[in-house]
Amino acid sequence: MLKFPDGFYWGCATSSHQVEGNNRNNQWWAWEQEGGNVRDGTTSGPACDHYNRFDDDFALAEELGHSAHRLSIEWSRIEPEEGRWDEKEVEHYRRVIESLHRHGLTPFVTLHHFTNPLWFEQQGGWTSPRAPDLIARYAGYMAKQLGEAVPFWLTINEPSVVPAACYLAGMHPPAKRDMGLAMQAARHILIAHGKMYQAVREAAPHDPQVGPVLNMIYVEPASDSEEDRQAAQLFDQYWNSYWLEGIRDGVVGPPAGGGEEAPGLKGTWDIIGLNNYSRSVIAAGPPPMGLRQVPPGPDAETSTMGWEVYPEGFYRVQARLKPYGKPVYITENGIGTDDDKQRQRYIVRHLRQVHRAISEGVDVRGYLHWSFQDNFEWAEGFRQKFGLIAMEEGTRNRLPRPSAYLFRDIARANAVSDELLGRWGE
Ligand code: GAL
Repeated sequence: MLKFPDGFYWGCATSSHQVEGNNRNNQWWAWEQEGGNVRDGTTSGPACDHYNRFDDDFALAEELGHSAHRLSIEWSRIEPEEGRWDEKEVEHYRRVIESLHRHGLTPFVTLHHFTNPLWFEQQGGWTSPRAPDLIARYAGYMAKQLGEAVPFWLTINEPSVVPAACYLAGMHPPAKRDMGLAMQAARHILIAHGKMYQAVREAAPHDPQVGPVLNMIYVEPASDSEEDRQAAQLFDQYWNSYWLEGIRDGVVGPPAGGGEEAPGLKGTWDIIGLNNYSRSVIAAGPPPMGLRQVPPGPDAETSTMGWEVYPEGFYRVQARLKPYGKPVYITENGIGTDDDKQRQRYIVRHLRQVHRAISEGVDVRGYLHWSFQDNFEWAEGFRQKFGLIAMEEGTRNRLPRPSAYLFRDIARANAVSDELLGRWGE
């Protein structure tokens, strides 16, 4: 059996726009209304109505054995116009955090998870040089308002994904394909993270743990050729090293900078939030990037997102964090699938890799599964099912899947039993 360290956190991760409903004042909502941008034709709309049902959701999480929960604050609710704070919305999140505590769930609170207030987006969003100061002001404000109730603050969700999806792949709004803009965004996001860290630490009355949420990918070259290895190296540099080394050393390195120092950035992490889903196999490819992602082969196990299931890669990215010497929290890991048996297998096999990393000295302290319930999966819409819990059509009733009970048993035991390892383990 795989026993986890005492006090290990178990729970799920979500984000405001994907679950709350009616986040009308951000760039995602506007983009969804244009039509044709979300693959399955859905829009976030009322989403899971979590904005109103949060207390019931947290009661259910408690019943299901969770001890922690990750959510994000919707910036566009808090600061609907530049410099104007909506105290009613602050009060809402105060109640949300209180409810978490009442249900025995330790809050992990993300300040930015993909959505920008419209006014911020209209100024150029992440490509604007004002972006870091604007978001740091919001971060400090929230840390002050919520105070001691939040022990774990996470600055920006998946800094690597934002420039790539918004400005390179054209998959997220504003759906541009422009390397220059992407690199500008990557620079400002890295600098913003440091400023947010400082603002939170300055404003919070206690001693919270603050860090980024990095989506790290285990990258492999498609072949041994020099070209493929260089392409994989470049991809890895952008996706992983740029952020890790940038925060550790306080510099903006390649590909978005030349190694120049960013004042206040160095060492701005008490913890590292790690998201991981899959691996990437990279080959040399056409400009502007000079690389392409090789799709999984016909024998590979994949999710409905088309991502390869590759637990070994999950281990590798955890192991890579060891030299940084920070506590690591798995802030996302999960699978989009219509087959809950596949999800159960995914969970057990991936937890085996968390246990392996811990036994090799990586200081992993919690596992937050993506996600609690099926939700609005960005440009894929509601069609993708990432939840331990399904949502009944029409009523939006929460219907826990077998995987929710499997996860409950693991969380309550703080261990993966031999029986589960035998049934799902490999
Ligand atoms: C992450 C993202 C989440 C969720 C998940 C599944 O990149 O942070 O919001 O969408 O992927 O695709």
